[in-house]
Amino acid sequence: MHLEKNVDNPGRKTWLVPILALGFMALFAWAGHWIVQRRESRPSMDMLTKSADPATRAVTRGKWLFWTRGRCHTCHRIDGRGYSARGPGLDGGRLGAAIGFRAGSRAREREQQLGTPVSATDYLVESLISPGVYLVEGYRNEMPPAHLPPQSLETDDVRDLVAYLQSVGGEVDISSIRIPEETR
Ligand code: HEC
Repeated sequence: MHLEKNVDNPGRKTWLVPILALGFMALFAWAGHWIVQRRESRPSMDMLTKSADPATRAVTRGKWLFWTRGRCHTCHRIDGRGYSARGPGLDGGRLGAAIGFRAGSRAREREQQLGTPVSATDYLVESLISPGVYLVEGYRNEMPPAHLPPQSLETDDVRDLVAYLQSVGGEVDISSIRIPEETR
């Protein structure tokens, strides 16, 4: 009988059992977490088409673009994921508030520079299609304009990405998103 043997010989490697069990639990926890993260970062097209509200649809599609064709995650962190070695983190951190909120103060700086009114949404649109005209302090001019290669995003894509960025710390208002004619 194994059990009795174990009691008689406490020196046997019974300590391996809890260690292996813990190891497996950690592995499963990590795998589960990884799968959930991947699912979250890639909302399915089903989710998009089922959602009737245009603002929700824009935000969901914008988020999807951020992690796929837009390639934004290769330079920006958002929701605690992605790589921000090259571009500023968009969910706060070193630069303070999340992008949907801090776009407001950036817009005021830009407004002073230009001498014409600039809304937070205008700032977001400009950041995507003319990133080089007003750089975030401490960063280089290395963001490709979203409507040009390699991303070559369409007007609707840019609008949806802006809606998503509005949703990260700010108010979503798709009616305020104006994409300049020349980039259409
Ligand atoms: C090759 C790297 C790279 C890629 C790809 C990239 N960006 Fe950027 N982005 C940057 C850098 C660097 C800056 C800071 C300099 C500047 O203002 O242009 C920046 C700035 C921004 C800003 C302004 C941030 C602020 O704090 O005001 C926004 C918004 C933004 N990017 C969104 C996006 C979105 C959305 C995409 C995907 C369509 C994207 N970026 C793709 C590198 C990148």
